[in-house]
Amino acid sequence: MKGVVLAGGTGSRLEHLTRVVNKHLLPVGRYPMVYHPLMRLKQAGITQVAVVTSPEHMGPFVTLLGSGRRLGLDLTFRVQEEPGGIAQALGLCEGFVGDNLSVVILGDNILDQGIDDQIAAFRGQERGARLLLKKVRKPRHYGVPRFEDGQIVEVLEKPANPPSPYAVTGIYFYDREVFSYIRGLTPSKRQELEVSDLNTMYVRRSLLTYGILTGKWGDAGTIKGLQRANRMVRHVKFSELHPQTAK
Ligand code: DAU
Repeated sequence: MKGVVLAGGTGSRLEHLTRVVNKHLLPVGRYPMVYHPLMRLKQAGITQVAVVTSPEHMGPFVTLLGSGRRLGLDLTFRVQEEPGGIAQALGLCEGFVGDNLSVVILGDNILDQGIDDQIAAFRGQERGARLLLKKVRKPRHYGVPRFEDGQIVEVLEKPANPPSPYAVTGIYFYDREVFSYIRGLTPSKRQELEVSDLNTMYVRRSLLTYGILTGKWGDAGTIKGLQRANRMVRHVKFSELHPQTAK
């Protein structure tokens, strides 16, 4: 299984903070934001990871992450020329993922625990895609699943009237068909290839499963979300990054 961390986009909801610094390089707890999804992949044994970002921010990402060796990762970088949406950014990783399964994490998604169990659940699934959901107070800010008889029948992007109390978190699992589905997407009203439309394509083929996250989860893409994420993981320390010092 290969990992993909998406760190493109504009970061416009963090206005002043992202004028010079890319959103995913802002501090969250003890680390730059992008370390969090990267280290969750590493902890689950996924070491081959592609990082997608915009041309103007690629330099600082390479300076920070290098080959990935210091993080115990083997990194590949992909440039997204324009912020054409999450599904478009993932589409750039087709050659990297090849015939493998992929786990995709949005670079602003922060967790206070590992996702090894969810990855194991997807490995046991022969084909299709898997979403991770989290019950939230304001689902209208997220992708939201609509259920019928316990099955997801549609995924709506930021609906005014959410059909369930769940957010679709930015952690997605896909089989290798994902790239042919992405080619079949058309841009939304905001001119993006939407990940919710991609997930709905799997729904239509009855190939979408889901898990519910039990631990804490946050999207650090807004001022409130960034502050909350900082509080949530203030004690999180990735031991792999801190060699034991002799006492
Ligand atoms: O955090 C979960 C939510 O993330 C989901 O519930 C939504 O369905 C999903 O669309 C997304 O919503 P956001 O409004 O948070 O998406 P945002 O535009 O902030 O993009 C999230 C990350 O995806 C961002 O940190 C970087 C990456 N991205 C985004 C775009 C639009 C890219 O790499 N390229 C892009 O073109």
